[in-house]
Amino acid sequence: MRDVAVIGVGMTRFAELWERSIRDIFVEAALKAIEDAGVDHIDSLYVGAMSPGLFVGQEHLGAVMADYLGVTPVPATRVESACASGGASFRQAYLEVASGASDIVLAGGVEKMTDGADVAEALATASDQEYEAFHGITFPGLYAMIARAHMTKYGTTREQLAAVAVKNHRNGAKNPNAQFRSEVTAEQVMNSTMVADPLRLLDCSPVSDGAAAVIVASIDVAKKLHKNPILVRASAQASDSIALHTRRDITTLGAVVEAARKAYAMAGIKPGDLHLAEVHDCFTIAEIVVSEDLGFFEKGKGGEAAEKGWTSLEGGKIPINTSGGLKAKGHPVGATGIAQIIELVEQLNGNAGPRQVKNARIGMAQNMGGSGASAVIHILERA
Ligand code: COA
Repeated sequence: MRDVAVIGVGMTRFAELWERSIRDIFVEAALKAIEDAGVDHIDSLYVGAMSPGLFVGQEHLGAVMADYLGVTPVPATRVESACASGGASFRQAYLEVASGASDIVLAGGVEKMTDGADVAEALATASDQEYEAFHGITFPGLYAMIARAHMTKYGTTREQLAAVAVKNHRNGAKNPNAQFRSEVTAEQVMNSTMVADPLRLLDCSPVSDGAAAVIVASIDVAKKLHKNPILVRASAQASDSIALHTRRDITTLGAVVEAARKAYAMAGIKPGDLHLAEVHDCFTIAEIVVSEDLGFFEKGKGGEAAEKGWTSLEGGKIPINTSGGLKAKGHPVGATGIAQIIELVEQLNGNAGPRQVKNARIGMAQNMGGSGASAVIHILERA
């Protein structure tokens, strides 16, 4: 396997983009990434998308996007892994370049969720259809069960859940591509509309439209085009049982633990070596559980870490979700994993403006599907 780098990034704003189609937003992000990389061609294309057939009635996204991007006949493939589709798309591009099969690959992700589909029902197809969705449970309900179990086992509090939302909205307010650019207080979070007890509106990621793309290249190509390419130091993926009831302990996400173990081994680093992380905060409890399962904090201490500011941009031990995370930046599910990579690249290049983590050199992106049945983790480092 050879070294691989990210040499260009591009994304649309995440928002409710009613006036634009799924192909328009993907092409906008892809063209920005191609221009940013300074490449005159791509060898192949991956499109991460969870459910475009249900959301907008369009399948076969690989071919659609190659056509509208004007890059046919390059190989073009859609990658699906629920909300981890973007991370999985990036991993496929990484593997294709690392293997030597291609030199320059575009990894993108897109979702158009606000065009009128029954979003909760479409998303629920990523849970266990027979044991969960059929009985009426949707993702806010599944994560609410995780939250209740974590509160019971570790004493995690309602205030600690709110602290995650307050921090991520504060970071999102500094991100021009974020869906919500407004700060919220803990009181607002705790008094917002109840969705699935104990999770309220401001504990949830929103329903979003958006696209993101990056150009992945061999280190030789990268060095010719960029002085300081951002290296992919690790790419790891793992899976877990799809339904919550078959897990021994729902306060931990086995796929995240396993993917993290592999990623740290591949990069040859420990959690304490990271300068920042983008994690999959689809609900506030998810960020708390994941921050423990990635080894940033002792099991059960993720809530305390959020409350005490250990994950904040303003001097935290490890700033988490400087982009605003899924909570404030938005969560167009197929695009999320690629947008996480983009935030790392901006931070490691020193281009994150008011969100900049000082001297950031090494960062992690953790993306997951469903209630954690699939997890994809990447570690990036400034060369
Ligand atoms: N955070 C903050 N504000 C939100 C929000 C969120 N997650 N979701 C909606 N809003 C705001 C809207 O902007 C709107 O504000 P406005 O009245 O000022 O325009 C208001 O709340 C009502 O929006 P609406 O779209 O009617 O909300 P809704 O009740 O239909 O949906 C949720 C709210 C929480 C149910 C929905 O966002 C949701 O399902 N989120 C989870 C998505 C999910 O499961 N993703 C996969 C994760 S695994």
